[in-house]
Amino acid sequence: MVSSGQVIPGNPDGSPLLQSIEANRMPPAGPLSAVEKSILRAWIQGGAAAPTAPIVVEPLPPLGPNYNSLAKNVFGPKCSGCHNATKATAGYAFDTYASVMKSVRAGRPSSSKLYTVSQSGEMPPQPDPVLNSDELRAISDWITEGALNN
Ligand code: HEC
Repeated sequence: MVSSGQVIPGNPDGSPLLQSIEANRMPPAGPLSAVEKSILRAWIQGGAAAPTAPIVVEPLPPLGPNYNSLAKNVFGPKCSGCHNATKATAGYAFDTYASVMKSVRAGRPSSSKLYTVSQSGEMPPQPDPVLNSDELRAISDWITEGALNN
């Protein structure tokens, strides 16, 4: 990416790769989230270092109504960039089971802020894409089934 000129270390605004991603021209399948864009920008700003070890991408568990799946498929990538232990925007964090449970009433999705703000489309905020119906159903079912640490 650096030798092709797509990424100019230390110069995010001058990097064609970031320009096309921030303008939502890439990837063609749909825009990256605001969190993903800011991670990419920070990496280029910080010198666009090459990885010191091979990058191992762990496959995500299938989406389902259990905490482990929701943490890896939804809360981690789509909520915790703005809501975490260091930066708990609006007082909420979604990076641990204990913190997620502060916005959950086990057995009652419609009384759980986690579910209501996602279901209304309020969260994640624009321009991030809202959660899809499969993700919303998995959250709702997980809460209905007791919101276990499973
Ligand atoms: C890009 C940053 C960002 C992301 C990503 C994000 N949030 Fe938020 N969230 C905010 C901001 C800013 C507020 C406070 C302003 C507001 O309420 O609109 C907020 C507020 C909230 C609140 C409090 C709302 C209230 O009415 O009290 C909850 C609950 C919440 N977010 C849940 C989530 C969940 C769940 C996700 C993932 C599905 C998520 N957020 C993703 C930025 C974000």
